[in-house]
This record gives sequence, structure tokens and C-alpha cells, in this order.
Amino acid sequence: MATYMPEPYRIKMVEPLRVTTKEERDTAIRRSHFNLFGLKSDDVYIDMLTDSGTGAMSDRQWAAIMLGDESYAGSRSYYKLMDTCGDLFGWSYFQPVHQGRAAEKVLFPNLLKPGQISISNMHFDTTAGHVMLCGARPVNCVVAEALDPSSLYPFKGNTDNARLKELIDQYGRDKVGMIVITVTCNSAGGQPVSLANMKETAAIARQAGIPLVIDAARFAENAFFIKEREEGQADRTIREIVLDMFAEADAFTFSAKKDGIVNMGGLVAVRDDSELMAGVRRLVVPNEGFLSYGGLAGRDMEALAIGLVEGLDESFLRSYTGQTCYLVDRLVEEGIPCQQPAGGHAVFVDARQLLPQILYDLFPAQSLCIELYREAGIRGCDVGSFMLDPDPETGEQPQAAMEFARFCIPRRTYTQAHLDYVVASLAKVKERASSLGGYRIVRAEKILRHFTARLEPWSHTL
Ligand SMILES: Cc1ncc(COP(=O)(O)O)c(C=O)c1O
Repeated sequence: MATYMPEPYRIKMVEPLRVTTKEERDTAIRRSHFNLFGLKSDDVYIDMLTDSGTGAMSDRQWAAIMLGDESYAGSRSYYKLMDTCGDLFGWSYFQPVHQGRAAEKVLFPNLLKPGQISISNMHFDTTAGHVMLCGARPVNCVVAEALDPSSLYPFKGNTDNARLKELIDQYGRDKVGMIVITVTCNSAGGQPVSLANMKETAAIARQAGIPLVIDAARFAENAFFIKEREEGQADRTIREIVLDMFAEADAFTFSAKKDGIVNMGGLVAVRDDSELMAGVRRLVVPNEGFLSYGGLAGRDMEALAIGLVEGLDESFLRSYTGQTCYLVDRLVEEGIPCQQPAGGHAVFVDARQLLPQILYDLFPAQSLCIELYREAGIRGCDVGSFMLDPDPETGEQPQAAMEFARFCIPRRTYTQAHLDYVVASLAKVKERASSLGGYRIVRAEKILRHFTARLEPWSHTL
């Protein structure tokens, strides 16, 4: 029987949830054109769409909000955030921005030229989108184990460094604008990257003279997994591991909405006060605002300075990653195939295996998410082929390496009873899995289409 650690916090304030009927949910999903992003949150009971910006802030964070200094320039809250960042990451140059994709928007045009490529263990969707907006192309090279959901390899987010070297040789170093390590690797199932692997990637980047960028959205969980799973790391503190993870990169982007445990926020950091930092600042002022707030209110920076520290607390990280682990163990007990071992922020159900009758271009993971919503009001999302935009040249639908339905766990938000309800509901959907059909897209944008695309059932009716 799966076990779990009791939460290292208690509830001080509650947000009531609306319980809907099956008829209400059927109407709601039809009204949203079968896109879960189109649902009203009031029509959702357990919202596992994302862990991004959906966590619960602590009493200390809420109290700090009252201390926000809203000065346009030189805010006290900005300096507090800068001091905390310097302390945690060991770097000197940080720029607040309003969220992770804003960090990508102000950093990437300084590194990528049209016609170049960006190589990553796996680009997250907004990361890939911003690479393409620079006229460059994202190329992924995660280790093969990541593509086998049943493999228990502990670091499935690792970069395939042999492949990375081949790609650099194949394209030529001038064609590679940057190398990105995404920690944890969201698209591979929230899977961690080992310290040894990061250092090897850094050495390859340094030797080739290619800038190394860390997409640090879930750096704290990654550090926790290094401590738990990597040989020789068990006796180090999370903070020591974090300093080591960032020791060799040239820049990082950070969506603070995950491990910063705030509802909105982000950072860009550059190791040296170089031309790169000047380039970032040049883009921040017209896009995000003045340098000492970068799209954030003073109160947001206060909350982030505290959230960053709380997010690195070992008991919190043990409990949070423990929730994911519990959910994966319980689902596997029910015969529901998941990416294993459990990753950090979400469970990734293998929809290709659960719904083999639905081909990739009819989006099996989307079908699974729709059915779970109809069953129980639980909202997840497709991170398989539906998330991949068509090839800009041929218009063809790429096939994702894995068809995952992702169910995220917002930080400090849901209880163990909620997780048990998710297991029971997915088990019910599994019983009728063979009768489910696919979906086709009837309207979509060219880039990041999955947020707004409209779909309709294909060869079945709802
Ligand atoms: C790995 C990764 N990078 C970047 C982002 C983009 O961050 P944001 O949503 O704050 O723009 C996300 C968001 O989910 C992410 O998971």
C-alpha cells in the first residue's frame, strides 16, 4: 500500500470548491470546444491543469505583501529579492520579470539568430515557442530512458550528452545558439537531471563555446531528487546542491510560479555583467518595465523573496514530491500506466498505452483528460502530440515521443483525500478506456495552439 508523509503545514484559510453534476460538466466541456484551458475554474472541482502559479502562499508571504515598496525605481522590495537571489544562487545579476516566458522573451533574442538551433534535454512549450519566434529551431536530446515510461532510471531528465556532441558536430558550433538544461524536465514527466549530467553538459558547452542556459522552473525539486537519488549527494544540504547546479551555466530563466511558490513572477539571471546582461536590460525596459520591478509589483517581489526560501525547505520538498510519489504508486496499483519513477510536480499517465485505439493525431491524452473531467470534474492536460505545433514549413502534425496526460499537484493546496479521489476517478475511466474516441482540431493558432485550439470528437459523439 502506498504511504505518504503528513503535510508539514496546517490550513489557516480555505477556498470553497463547487461540486458540479455530470450534466453540468458535459455542457461545460462542449462550451469550451473540448479544450480544458477553455473551462471556467468554477466548473472544475480539482484543478490539476498546472502547478504554475496555483500554489498556496504561506502566512509569512501574505504578511510580507503588506511590506511591498511600490516605488517605481529602486524599490526596497527589489533589493530584498536581489539579496535573497544572490544568497541562494551565488550569482550577482538578476532581473525580475512577470513570468517565465517573459524571461525567455528578453533573453533568447540575445542568444539566437534566425536559422540557428537551440538544443535542450527537452524544451518546454513556451521555450520552444520563443526559440521559434527568434527564427531558430528547438532540438531535443533527452536520454532514451525518458521515452520508456516503465523504466525506473532515476534521472530521466538527463541530456543525452553523446547525442549533444553529435548534434554540435552535425550542425557546426556556429549554428547552435544555445544549449538549455530544463530542470526538472517537465515534458519528460517532471523528471530530474543529475548533477553529474549537468556538469558533463556544461563541459561540452564550454568546450564548444556555446552559451549554457538553465530553465530553472523546478530547480528546488531537482535539487531534492539529486540529494535523494544521486550517489554521494545524500549528506549535502539542498542549498549546497543548488549552488552546484548553477555553478557552470551562463544564464538562467526562472518561472517563479512553480518553486518560488508565488502566483505570478519570474527572473532572468546572467552570470557576468556582460554584453548579454546589457542586451537583456535593453529588452526589459520596453517589454516588462523599469529594471527594478520588471513587470512585478513591490508586493510580488516581497512574496517571492520568502517563497524562494520556503520552496527550498527540505520537509516541504519531501512532502510535495511525496504527494506525486503517492499518486503514482496508487495509480500503478490500479493498473494505470504512468511515467515512473514519480517526477516532481505532476503525474504523467501514459495515454498511448491506456488508449491504444486512438492514434497520435487524434490526441489520446486529450481524450483521457476530457473523460476524467466528465467523470469527476478533475482538470488535467495533454502534453503529447496536441501540445506540439505543426511543422511551420510542411504544416504536418509532429508525433510526440510520449502521449502523456499530465495531472499537476499545486503546492500546499490539495489534501491526501483529494488525491485518493483522483485515483478512484481515473480507475473508473480506465474501465471504459477501450470505448473512448479521439478528437480533431477545428481551429488553431500557429504557435502555442493548445491553449486556445478548438476541437471536436472524431468518429464518436458526446
Ligand atoms: C519548464 C518550464 N519552463 C518555462 C515555463 C514558462 O513559465 P511561465 O508559465 O511562468 O511563463 C514553464 C511553465 O510551465 C515550464 O514548466
